[in-house]
Amino acid sequence: MDIASSALADIVGEANILTGDDIGDRYRIDFLRKHEAAPGVVLRPASTEEVSAILRLAHSEGTPVTVIGGQTGMCGAAMASPGGIGLSLERMNRIEEIDPASMTMTVQAGCVLQVAHEAAEEQGVFLPLDLGARGSAMIGGVIGTNAGGNRVLRWGMMRDMVLGLEVVLADGRIVSSLGKVIKDNAGYNWKHLLIGSEGTLGVVTRAVLRLRPLPTTQQTAIVATGSFEDAIRLLRNLEASLSGRLSSFELLWGDCYGRVVDAQLKQLKRPCPLPKGYGFYIVVEAMGSDREGDDAQFERALAAELDSGLVVDAVLANSDTQRATLWGVRDEMHVGFMNLMPFCNYDVSMAQSVMPTFVSRVREDLAKRYPEAVSYFYGHAGDGNLHAIVNQDPGKPLESLAVDEIVFGVIRELGGSIAAEHGIGTLRRQFLDWTRSDDEVWMMRAIKQALDPKGILNPGKVFEL
Ligand code: LAC
Ligand code: ZN
Repeated sequence: MDIASSALADIVGEANILTGDDIGDRYRIDFLRKHEAAPGVVLRPASTEEVSAILRLAHSEGTPVTVIGGQTGMCGAAMASPGGIGLSLERMNRIEEIDPASMTMTVQAGCVLQVAHEAAEEQGVFLPLDLGARGSAMIGGVIGTNAGGNRVLRWGMMRDMVLGLEVVLADGRIVSSLGKVIKDNAGYNWKHLLIGSEGTLGVVTRAVLRLRPLPTTQQTAIVATGSFEDAIRLLRNLEASLSGRLSSFELLWGDCYGRVVDAQLKQLKRPCPLPKGYGFYIVVEAMGSDREGDDAQFERALAAELDSGLVVDAVLANSDTQRATLWGVRDEMHVGFMNLMPFCNYDVSMAQSVMPTFVSRVREDLAKRYPEAVSYFYGHAGDGNLHAIVNQDPGKPLESLAVDEIVFGVIRELGGSIAAEHGIGTLRRQFLDWTRSDDEVWMMRAIKQALDPKGILNPGKVFEL
């Protein structure tokens, strides 16, 4: 494809075609600076019709098309093919409707998650999905990766919030199903195929999202436990004692917490909220609507756990500023790992009961092969999703494929998944069949072939070419 062709200018206008040095870093490099792309052109369409016209053209020419969002996906899924088209939907960022009567929001794919949060809140309603990258992640990317984040244990993943979806298929066909229904068993539920498909089956352009009543109270604490088993006991206790209000249970292994708070103190001047040295640290949050009762219920619940000795220390946020400080420990964990770059990072899921086995097995296997390796573990323990960072300290790269084999080998044995919430991208595609059977991969490839026979949509992501 002649990337400077007048056909592209006719579709998006000259001002929305970027080439050469005009393609800034935000279109080429991801947040961790781990993945880098060299698109031939970046296009910034303003409407679904423009996306459709671009795809029709790309389809006829066989040109690869990759959607570029907030670049915080972590596994290379938004890296455009060399010389291919990068599609940035940043101009398609409108919230088209908030409908409190139906509890829905209709939003364009380029809207940043945090903007959607704030717009909902202004109308007195709530979009529950939340993650550290809320200020950069776009709704289209959040849908494309079926993002999870910090509140999955209560409100589910993005998949659970998408009621309607509009996508443009590889040949430019617009499939629009922007209904507001929760139940829809009229034939195959194609939207769930597209959600989490990482831009390989279609380009998400708009969505109808399910909203919830806006919580009016919020209680946040960081607590410490001596063992992982105690942390999981605490999870079960709080699920019951907070009457279903528990919305986050974010766990850090003790050494991980120590490294992160040290770095945050040094670099962000953020004081350490709880002393270092305990086994496990958990950011616990509840949300509700009983202004009289919720705070007291939360305090009672934590006091009971302290009394019984299950919780060995705790700090409770008494103001929104303190809450932001507590969440800062979790949201800005990367500060603690910057001098380990380039590190291997993981996003795995498993039954909660085997999480400690996972960590000890990975550490044993790593030590056998790389005695100098360090590994840090944290994540969304409330829903069985852990993240891990592995490297030699300071940042002397390990053979990442060998480390992948160690981590994924343990995950496979424990019956988990190599990709919990970030997806496969290019980073994990060699390992797709480690926790998926050959028949599952065959079915995925059959779907890809049916919807994108020329393979122009985000080629090389999820599967190897
Ligand atoms: C987190 C990102 C890495 O949970 O998913 O911090
Ligand atoms: Zn995460």
